[in-house]
Amino acid sequence: MTRRRLPRWSELRPFLRVQPLGRTPSARRLAGASSIADLRDIARRSRPRAVFDYVDGAAETETSLRRSREAFGRVEFVPRVLHDVTRTDPSTTLLGRRSALPLIFAPTGFTRLMHHEGEPAVARVAERMGIPYVLSTMGTTSPEDVAAAAPNGQNWFQLYLWRDRDASLALVERARAAGFGALMLTVDTPVAGARLRDARNGFSIPPALTAKTLFDIALHPSWWFDVLTTEPLQFASLDAWHGPVADLIDQLFDPALNLKDVAWLREMWPAPLIIKGIQTADDARMVADAGVDAIVISNHGGRQLDRAPVPLEQLPDIVKAVGDRVEVYLDGGIMNGGDVVAAVGMGARAALVGRAYLYGLMAGGEAGVQRAGDLLTKDVTRTMRLLGANDLSELTTDRVRLRQG
Ligand SMILES: Cc1cc2nc3c(=O)[nH]c(=O)nc-3n(C[C@H](O)[C@H](O)[C@H](O)COP(=O)(O)O)c2cc1C
Repeated sequence: MTRRRLPRWSELRPFLRVQPLGRTPSARRLAGASSIADLRDIARRSRPRAVFDYVDGAAETETSLRRSREAFGRVEFVPRVLHDVTRTDPSTTLLGRRSALPLIFAPTGFTRLMHHEGEPAVARVAERMGIPYVLSTMGTTSPEDVAAAAPNGQNWFQLYLWRDRDASLALVERARAAGFGALMLTVDTPVAGARLRDARNGFSIPPALTAKTLFDIALHPSWWFDVLTTEPLQFASLDAWHGPVADLIDQLFDPALNLKDVAWLREMWPAPLIIKGIQTADDARMVADAGVDAIVISNHGGRQLDRAPVPLEQLPDIVKAVGDRVEVYLDGGIMNGGDVVAAVGMGARAALVGRAYLYGLMAGGEAGVQRAGDLLTKDVTRTMRLLGANDLSELTTDRVRLRQG
């Protein structure tokens, strides 16, 4: 029979964990998040459903996004042991500049909808992390304001080519004048993808005040308070718009976009040019021949063509086709730093994340983006160390492979 006794205070004291004083509830929630998936949960609870779904959702059956995530689940890491990994360094060079990680914050439109701190918050975190941030044409902060928020950041500009070429050109020139170091042309959006969650939620920009939204105000008062008491929520580089995003895209973007436009941009943009939305080796060759500096293998996070090729599966062929001529990046479905390591191990120079930092932004503004960045950074270095890799050149195809099925 076990004999029991009362514990002494000195024995109990080591078990007590006192919460640091002065932490806001939001800071406590962020500190408790140990993965991007946790940040997503906080975001889902704290944002109106239409806002969360706009970020979280994809096109039609969402198969493209689901398959991209599943592919990362099929990655097998093959570690080497007895290899001193005290000085693991995940840094790399992207378009001639040092980046602390093989990671880029992807362009995402209408970022101030997710949290009023918006694009400047994301740009500042990228600057602190020492990685590039790409401002979207559909941003809610101007290129000049992003440059002012992160003057030492590696700020890149993403372009959707409009039917009105003069307006597009004026925007590119503003980005150049504001010091944006690279131009990323997105080519997978000739028309809007069918984002069914947005249609069902009646999602529009700016949010319309309907009976449904009034009910939502009662559920998410702080989001509405922030939206209504800060700078009006508008596209920074567009005239005021009221209506569904898909209608805006179809009205504004030029479905005639073709290789001649790439040649035109190549001529008038003097710095690195990147094409985002490449999905086949043939198209990768075509734009490499046109003299671009980098490509992003991307299906737009599954938000455009449903059942599109899985970027991670396309990667080896595309790297084989153009890897000696252009930098090859990849995105879609990345939810942790291990996914970034997997992409690099299979041949990518870097990976982009969109939702991963947006979940952080929705969960807690700039502090939430920082939390997402810290989690991704830790994941990358930990995974490299467990793999026995000290730098990115040691992440080779014999360390990272894709299981079939
Ligand atoms: C809310 C949201 C808005 C986006 N807006 C843009 C955009 O304006 N321009 C663009 O090229 N890509 C845009 N994307 C696509 C991202 O740049 C990126 O390709 C995608 O998010 C990668 O997938 P991930 O979110 O799973 O990381 C957007 C993605 C999301 C989630």
